[in-house]
Amino acid sequence: MVFPDYRPRRLRQNSTFRGLIRETHLSADQFIYPLFVQPGKNVREEIPSMPGVFRISIDQLAAEAKECLGLGIRSVILFGLPDKKDAMGTGAHIKDGIIQRAIREIKNKVPEMMVVTDVCLCEYTDHGHCGCLINQEVDNDATLEILAKTALSHAQAGADMVAPSDMMDGRVAEIRAALDENNFEMIPIMSYAVKYASSFYGPFRDAADCAPQFGDRRSYQMDPANSREALREATLDVDEGADILMVKPAVAYLDIISKLRDEFDLPVAAYHVSGEYAMIKAAAEKGWIDGEKVMAETLLSIKRAGADIIITYFAKEMAKLLRK
Ligand code: PBG
Repeated sequence: MVFPDYRPRRLRQNSTFRGLIRETHLSADQFIYPLFVQPGKNVREEIPSMPGVFRISIDQLAAEAKECLGLGIRSVILFGLPDKKDAMGTGAHIKDGIIQRAIREIKNKVPEMMVVTDVCLCEYTDHGHCGCLINQEVDNDATLEILAKTALSHAQAGADMVAPSDMMDGRVAEIRAALDENNFEMIPIMSYAVKYASSFYGPFRDAADCAPQFGDRRSYQMDPANSREALREATLDVDEGADILMVKPAVAYLDIISKLRDEFDLPVAAYHVSGEYAMIKAAAEKGWIDGEKVMAETLLSIKRAGADIIITYFAKEMAKLLRK
């Protein structure tokens, strides 16, 4: 059937028809909102390159979690700024580390809020790499044990799900084993299965003070040029026991999200990262784009590409818009 027998505009003529045939929907219960937690009291400090996103102290967490729940956002992912860093990233897994305390605070005061934790060492190492160093190289196998300890310490503090973002080989299996041995077999792993060595993480590294002090992350994070390799990475994580596969960043990698959606039956998450957020905010501030509309269109595109879950700094803003 071709024009004039078939007219696609028939089903676009009003908002009722458009609503009736809409293929993709955003929903606040599929957002995960990132929170940056720092030491101190009464701290609520806006991150300069991420307008609307704050570093907050532990005493502010319950209020923040309640606000999210009020908007229909039921999950947060935590990032910590420790007061001390060392070569081995010890602060990542100590019992009274910043994240462990943050988890306990949220689960004590707002137990309905699902707490996801980022499992990585870069915020806790003085050199800023995601693993420990041997001869100035990030040593894969030596790092695994520390990551497993970190994930376990999060579960012990009450985390509902752990999300390893370090990109070491074999970490999902190592973390799964450590959790299972300690009776945390019901804690899922959302692996950053496909994480690219991206330049879109800039504002996050300012926020979490975790830029590498030398070199870069290209020996562990993926080359942006590769897509077949994404399938291999995801396959490994599935075989090692991942429950959810994440792609990061999101918008520059919609093709990868779509591929994972087609190839795997596990839920797919996408991380709309700091640089992607900052670009929209900056252009909107200049009046060059309509920030709200671009936000909605962007998040919708991530959904349409195949993501079930979106980790986004826009979670609260988008949830408010969805309520209107
Ligand atoms: C930790 C981590 C990073 C991000 C999430 N977890 C930084 C990095 O890998 O350099 C980036 C998130 C963002 O940019 O919003 N490894």
